[in-house]
Amino acid sequence: MHLQGLAAIVTGGASGLGAATAQRLAGAGCRVAVLDINEAAAVESAQRIGGIGIACDVGDAASAEAAVTKARDAHGPARILVNCAGVGTAGRIVGRDGPMPLAAFARVIRINLIGSFNLLRLAAANMVQLDPLEDGERGVIVNTASIAAYEGQVGQPAYAASKAGVIGMTLPAARELARAGVRVVTIAPGLFHTPMVEALPPEVQQGLSNSIPFPQRLGLPAEYASLVEHIATNRFINGETIRLDGALRMAPR
Ligand SMILES: NC(=O)c1ccc[n+]([C@@H]2O[C@H](COP(=O)([O-])OP(=O)(O)OC[C@H]3O[C@@H](n4cnc5c(N)ncnc54)[C@H](O)[C@@H]3O)[C@@H](O)[C@H]2O)c1
Repeated sequence: MHLQGLAAIVTGGASGLGAATAQRLAGAGCRVAVLDINEAAAVESAQRIGGIGIACDVGDAASAEAAVTKARDAHGPARILVNCAGVGTAGRIVGRDGPMPLAAFARVIRINLIGSFNLLRLAAANMVQLDPLEDGERGVIVNTASIAAYEGQVGQPAYAASKAGVIGMTLPAARELARAGVRVVTIAPGLFHTPMVEALPPEVQQGLSNSIPFPQRLGLPAEYASLVEHIATNRFINGETIRLDGALRMAPR
């Protein structure tokens, strides 16, 4: 798709990979709606790029429906959805205080997996009604998984399961929406330099960087955003999960 003038929705766009993506899409001429549970940060991120910031809990049906409607009222129906909202909460199956509370597992699934599907279904419902562009294309949806879906570490059962779910729904979603010319692609990032990682002590950050074969540093949010832009513009990428990780394969712990 030629991105100039298109409406785009970026969830989790208040921070990290989502904020970089919102900036990149705006730079390519998109009208960007930044959806985030942190409304103040969403508005601030959106203001920097001439977009609109909207409060949204991606795991909640009513909240997401209201946010997508608000975005559509402001910019028209989105041809691009990028699902970046997510949480990385860690926890062992059997910890010091006994079994992991089921609610902790369910929360990660609700935000990362159900939240991605929630926005995918709402955005797709709008996209299928749009006029077709070149090749009959109507829209593109980019999800964010993690390499933890393949090599989840100790403490990541919920996170890894949620991200494996995102990878699992990519192909059936792409197959179903193919008829409407809507592509579905997932990125599985390795370790990226975002607020999540910046909060760690420098020596821990260095240790993480050293575990990456090449380049031996954390990924930059701009590198993630650049892949999103490429996916949006390259119509032949569809139904696939792309690792973006400097060849990192995570160890058990
Ligand atoms: N940073 C990494 O190394 C890395 C690696 C692999 C995957 N990921 C994934 O990339 C995505 C972005 O991560 P990031 O590092 O930019 O994190 P981040 O914490 O900087 O940004 C995540 C954003 O999601 C928002 N969010 C959280 N719960 C939400 C909800 N219920 N509804 C709406 N918004 C919500 C947060 O407010 C925040 O702005 C996540 O899905 C994460 O799992 C990140």
